[in-house]
Amino acid sequence: MYDLLAILADGQFHSGTEIGKALGISRAAIWKRMQKVQQVCGCEVESVPGKGYRLLQQVELLCLERLQDICGPGLHVEFLKTVDSTNDYAKRLIREGRHVDVVFAEEQTQGKGRRGRAWQSPYAANLYLSFVWPVSYGMRQLEGLSLVVGLAVQRCISELGWADVGLKWPNDVLSNDKKIAGILLELVGDLADQSHVVIGIGINVNMQGDISSIDQPWTSIAQEFGHGVSRYEVIRSLIAHLIRLLDELKASGFSALQNEWEDKHLWHGKQVVVSSGTSQIEGQAIGVNERGELKLKTADGVEYIAGGELSLRLANDS
Ligand code: BTN
Repeated sequence: MYDLLAILADGQFHSGTEIGKALGISRAAIWKRMQKVQQVCGCEVESVPGKGYRLLQQVELLCLERLQDICGPGLHVEFLKTVDSTNDYAKRLIREGRHVDVVFAEEQTQGKGRRGRAWQSPYAANLYLSFVWPVSYGMRQLEGLSLVVGLAVQRCISELGWADVGLKWPNDVLSNDKKIAGILLELVGDLADQSHVVIGIGINVNMQGDISSIDQPWTSIAQEFGHGVSRYEVIRSLIAHLIRLLDELKASGFSALQNEWEDKHLWHGKQVVVSSGTSQIEGQAIGVNERGELKLKTADGVEYIAGGELSLRLANDS
């Protein structure tokens, strides 16, 4: 799909012979791939006998120059057309002692979600990025981090014009009860020494159609807006909010952002079940504390639940 889109991205007609030659595939295979492109990226392909195929809307592919320009000279940006996972790539660079601030990819072949899940990452459809954050003063700097990243994504999507987006502790971003973005934080190094957090963010931007391999309800910005959006616009807003919020977290801690986060928590006041492996705690979600822990009113009193590899679901959800 990656090669096919790269050929069609200019919006001009390309004959079946030209495409078949370039990709080394048959006419039947070309048509199959065209259908996949339409389904996954939500862009229509026109087929005219004698002329060939063209995309009815131009697909905006990412390029390093523009990404670097948006992120500004203070950030070292890397861009890959394809990668296993931007988080894994960033981790490899850090371990090799190479400097990188943000990694973007057009496609991930082994995108990772929380709790060992896969994160579907089709070519040119969505945003897949990893932001590297050096940790200079240990554990305290990480308190509330994953919630703050969720807040940055929530602010970004609502700034683009979609007010109906909220958060589910610790860092799911939902619209109409469906996942629109996901966040995966990974720590590299030793907290007592020099370490980095790799902040992986996946935002469903233009993905549409039926993607059977996704095992949870999902949506995308395009699906909610009813039209596609420029991924550059999303990146511009996201990076600005992320940097602002991370600076704020570093300067004042999570307590300064606690109220805003609670305000955006879609499950505030709801009866929920927190699961970790085989153990489960049920209670009413009544807020978060200054460390970003979930405040749960249970039958035995108020309990504080730390993030990590936990899952939260509604108590009446079978
Ligand atoms: C989740 O399960 O909600 C977390 C999804 C995180 C996906 C992003 S996409 C960019 C980065 N690279 C990965 O492999 N995962 C994260």
